[in-house]
Parts: sequence; C-alpha cells; structure tokens
Amino acid sequence: MKKEMPEGFFWGNSSSSMQTEGAWNEGGKGPSVYDVDTAGRIAKNWQVTNDNYHDYKGDLDLMQAMNMNMYRFQISWSRVVPDGDGEFNEEGIAFYGRLIDDLLERGLEPMICLYHFDMPLSLAEKYNGFLSRHVTSAFVRFGKEMMRRFAGKVKYWIVFNEHNLYFADGFEHYSGVLKEELTLSDMYTVFHHTMLAHCELADFLHQNSDAKIGGMLATTEVYPASPAPKDNLYLRKFDEFYNRNLCDVYAFGHYSHEVLTFAKNHEIDMDFQAGDEEILRKGISDFISFSYYRSVLLDATDLTDDDAPNSYLTKGMKLNPLLEHNQWDWSIDPDGFRRLLGKLYNEFGLPVFPIENGIGQEEKWDGVNEIVDDLRIRYHREHLKAMQAAIFVDGVEVLGYLGWGLIDIPASSGAINKRYGAVYVAPDTHERIPKKSFRWFQQVFGANGDNL
Ligand code: BG6
Repeated sequence: MKKEMPEGFFWGNSSSSMQTEGAWNEGGKGPSVYDVDTAGRIAKNWQVTNDNYHDYKGDLDLMQAMNMNMYRFQISWSRVVPDGDGEFNEEGIAFYGRLIDDLLERGLEPMICLYHFDMPLSLAEKYNGFLSRHVTSAFVRFGKEMMRRFAGKVKYWIVFNEHNLYFADGFEHYSGVLKEELTLSDMYTVFHHTMLAHCELADFLHQNSDAKIGGMLATTEVYPASPAPKDNLYLRKFDEFYNRNLCDVYAFGHYSHEVLTFAKNHEIDMDFQAGDEEILRKGISDFISFSYYRSVLLDATDLTDDDAPNSYLTKGMKLNPLLEHNQWDWSIDPDGFRRLLGKLYNEFGLPVFPIENGIGQEEKWDGVNEIVDDLRIRYHREHLKAMQAAIFVDGVEVLGYLGWGLIDIPASSGAINKRYGAVYVAPDTHERIPKKSFRWFQQVFGANGDNL
C-alpha cells in the first residue's frame, strides 16, 4: 500500500531574531544581552547578521519558491519592549505585523517563538533575568500583548526555544542570568519561573483564541556508552530530568516526582509559591516541538547520585564511533530522530513537531559555480525518511518538519562559517545564492514529501 503524507503537513524554515534581524539599535529596539559584551559573558556581534529587519521580503520569496508553507520566526522582546518591562514600542510591533501579513500573502503559515536566549539587557543587569519573578511577570506581559495583537492571524506559538537548556549545566546565560556562580537552587528557580511563564501564556492563548501552543525541547538523543547497567540507569535519570520533566508539564500539568524528590533531598529552593501548582495545571500545551541535530553517548562511570542529572552530559558525554560526524563532531543519526519522535508521542500523547533540524557545514561560494551540498541533501533525505517511518510504521502524529536556518544565518556562537542553509548568504554584500539543496528541497516540499 502506498503511504502518502498527510494533507496540510507543514514544511518550512526556522530562525531566531538575533540570528536574522540585525538593526540591533534601530526602530526603537533596546539592547539585549546578545547585542553587547556583558562583562565578557556573551561577546558576539549580532548587530547586522542577515539584515532581515531592513529587507526580509526576498527571503520570504525564496521560502515560497522552495515550496515551504511555514516559517517559524521569533519576536524579539527588546524590539517590542526596549527595556523589557517599560513602554511598548509600536514601531517594533508594526515590523512584526508587516512580516506576518507578508508571510500570509505568500501562503506561509507563521509560527511565533517568544524567547530565544536574548534577554533585554537592562533586565539581565538589574535582576539577573529569569531568576527574578519581576522579569518573569514582565515577560508574561510582553507575551500576552503579542498574543492579543497577533493570535487572530498566527495559529502556532512557542514560548521558550529549547526550554530544557535553562535547566542544563553550562547554558545559564540563556536565561539572562549574569551572576557568575549559579547554585542548584538558582537553576531550579530559573527553570520554574520559565515554566510558570510558559503555562500562563498557554492558558491565556487558549482562553483568548483558537491558536495552538507547543512546548519546545533541545533534544540530543542519548544512548548508553556501553552495555553496563550503570550507563543505562543514569541515562534513564538524565532523560527524566532533561526531557520528561518538561513534557510532564506540557502534557499533564505537573513536574516529575523524581525531579521533585531530588530537589527535596538536596534542599533546593525553587521559589515554589502558593498558586504555582494551579498555573502549571492549567497551562497544558497542544503539541511538543523540538530541535534535533545529533545523538551522543553517555558514559556513567564517574557519575554518582550526588551529581545533578542536568550536569551528566558535561561529565559523561562521548561520541558514537559508529556514526558519521560533521566538522564540529555532530553525529548524523536519522534513527535517533525516529526513536525520539516515537518516544515523545507514545509517552505523552501530544502531536510532535520537529521545528529545527539540519547540518552545519563550512562553505564558500567561488562567485561562479553552484555550491554542491550533497551531504546536506543526504542528511535531510535520511531524516525525512526516518520521520516517514515514524509516521507510517510507528503511527506517530507529526505536524510538520522545519529545517533550521535554511537561508544561511550565523551559528549560535555568532560565527558564519557554520552554515545550515539551502541558500548561501554572502558575507558583507548579503547576496543570496541558492545551493544545490535549494532545488532538492523545492522538489521534496512541492511533492509533500512523497518523492524521497
Ligand atoms: C539550536 C538553537 O540550539 O541550534 C539555534 O536554537 C542554533 O540558535 C542551532 O543556531 C544550531 O546550533 P549551532 O551552534 O550550530 O548554531
């Protein structure tokens, strides 16, 4: 029997505002932690990037030409509320209003993300970002206003990009915390505050519109490094803290009992106040979305129960010698993608939505010849086949597939040498040059994925 992809499946592109917009100090935008060097913590140059603030229409035309029907972008908090908790900036809001209209005009369904690591600078400096309830309330105020303005037209929403990273060792600055040493109580507090914000906004969206909202995880599939039962035991615990604890809230409205037991045993104060339980219970999500690029191994030899599970990977991560890797040692693992799709759907019962996938490669255009990115084509083809096996063989409900940065954008480090795109963006001139994979995506998306 021939298996056909569902009608209305979403095919598209995904980005963040700090990786696309530029115009860091124009149109009334206030600085975010990404725009300046805050005490050496985040020294990146995000001031121009793809210059989409000045000119995004050409990129929308390219997405349309690739036969996409969805674009996930981010509304920058500091463009809309320059200092994070003060006046709204109508010029910034109007920019996103135009972008949404221009997307809809081209048959591209917008998906909005409200936070992608770029805390308004003054809130980071004054309050240490999401460590503060005041900042959490300011963010919810911003989010609700965006929903009031746009939920009539925008039917898909994400609150926090890669929400589990706010809980992970080494990613503290993603939540706007400038404090140098974070205690476990600090990390749990940041995480709890962001989860409250997610749930409050999910409830608000449901009360006021027919739009859908998703939780969003950074997923790296992790396998045990050996057949040792200890590797498997700690891998299970890692999954409980890093993924399932969030999905428990998205799907069931409460934290994992194992995580709460760890917090109790370690006298962690996560600022759990009266009324919080109710907020979590009411903020159920409509789908679980995630980024997926690679898998790794966990070697638990040196781990004990005193280690916080959110630091297991810092201590025990290994590369899988059986897999091919890119130049940054990110493995290529389509089976991991299928495994993840099935796991999330079976365990939590919500539709799943991969909204970031792709492979970073170093590429230079010689000014004449097409960039032949065969590895990228192979990467996406294998991942799409794995996704189809998840849909047709494993019975998973998948809403769509969005590639990451399919028009080149700087990597999370700020460097432009790690490119994910089907379209090359020339340094300095910002000229757009389709690569070989552009034509491949065009055919695959145009055929609704039925011609892999
Ligand atoms: C995700 C982020 O972690 O992965 C993006 O949401 C990031 O911001 C992407 O760009 C790819 O990672 P990197 O480090 O290769 O840019």
